[in-house]
Amino acid sequence: MEQADYEPALVRTGARLAGWGPVLRRGASAPRVPCFGGVLLVLFAGATAEAQDDTWVGGAAQVVHAHCASCHHVGGPGPMALVTYDQVRPWGKAIARQVQNGRMPPWHAVAGGEFSNDRRLDDAERELLLRWVAGGMARGEGVVELPEFEQGWRIGEPDLVIEMPEVVTVPASGELPYHDYLVDPGFTEDVWVKAAESRPGNSKVVHHIIVGYLIEDPLARRRLAAQGQEGRVQGSLGGYVPGDEPLILEPGLARLIPKGSKIYFQMHYTPNGEEQTDRSRLGLVFADGPPNHEVKTGIASSPFIRIPAGSEDTSLSATFRFTSESVLLSMRPHMHLRGKTFEYRVRYPDASEEVLLKVDDYDFGWQTNYMLQTPKVLPAGTELICTGSWDNTAANPNNPDAGKTASWGQQTDDEMMIGFFEYYHR
Ligand code: HEC
Repeated sequence: MEQADYEPALVRTGARLAGWGPVLRRGASAPRVPCFGGVLLVLFAGATAEAQDDTWVGGAAQVVHAHCASCHHVGGPGPMALVTYDQVRPWGKAIARQVQNGRMPPWHAVAGGEFSNDRRLDDAERELLLRWVAGGMARGEGVVELPEFEQGWRIGEPDLVIEMPEVVTVPASGELPYHDYLVDPGFTEDVWVKAAESRPGNSKVVHHIIVGYLIEDPLARRRLAAQGQEGRVQGSLGGYVPGDEPLILEPGLARLIPKGSKIYFQMHYTPNGEEQTDRSRLGLVFADGPPNHEVKTGIASSPFIRIPAGSEDTSLSATFRFTSESVLLSMRPHMHLRGKTFEYRVRYPDASEEVLLKVDDYDFGWQTNYMLQTPKVLPAGTELICTGSWDNTAANPNNPDAGKTASWGQQTDDEMMIGFFEYYHR
């Protein structure tokens, strides 16, 4: 295995954590766990406040390290490393373009709550970066402490690592359908999980991974079938998306993997011009026992999709009703390539409404999980209404086939409309 390709970002050293104080005082959002952006933000402390000018040392490095390097480092999901001055220097034009047009850092929520994994630059940071590039990208005097990207699990040492059942060969080119790989972890008891992390074996070709459990229980199948649902019991354990954070639950919360479950890896590979192999993994950290609250993945979804060929704006809503008081943790919209907008709106029992998330420029390439900064308490009887819309015209550059009426299906040129969310009953 090529180790260098293995690990997404990890930066964690005791010395760096000492920098938390100044970071929090800057008013940066405090992530719930010391990983990813959190520790990178610490590096603000590295280039000190005394030299604030439009140079790399004087400010640009801080912005790039805090908002770009988590993906743009060797072995990370970004196409090039943006960590050292020499690495960033040749990319000036492209950086200015991508920052100006809002494609980088990738973030698609335009309204709703505050999110702990918000990657956006604020106005001052954006302007500083653009001024620095326009002004010729001077280095400035002094030293910048560089973030380090160690290899390792971001959830800590897992209690169990589950691998895909086989090494998969990804051909040099072509479009690969999604594929589910099933593994039997041999759970003879229910298992409570407080952290889960999926790691691509080969980040050159792993676009995203969805992991979950599946119970091949004939009784459950029949019960579900009687309710007109697909005959399998299934639960999500998250997955891997470039730049996303792993599942790390607060104390008192855990996810259940029922005994007898099989673990599935749903793999989406994007060939990169050379034949590659991959064997991705899931790491689990177990809770000591049953938690105070079980965290579940809910869905508001409708299979009744019919998007006429050439339609610029077809939308569809689906509703989930919280039967008891619940706490919402995060939201992950899911559509395919024709996806255009997605909204999560709640209607409270008193009929007032609130938009919790609105994505205006949905991008299938980024299956972002929007993690609420402050978990949202929803009274019993609250309805969560998810609305997705699609653009099935040839003007949509991502449209795989503007001449086809799109309906629900597994393939990327079919469509889906699923509002995933994580929550627990209080
Ligand atoms: C969440 C991960 C992530 C973050 C954060 C991120 N990028 Fe990217 N970036 C990517 C990926 C993946 C690509 C390639 C795919 C794409 O363009 O969507 C990319 C592409 C780019 C490109 C285009 C490269 C080319 O070949 O033309 C530039 C320039 C860029 N990023 C700059 C930045 C800058 C500057 C920041 C911070 C202000 C940043 N990125 C933050 C993941 C990220």
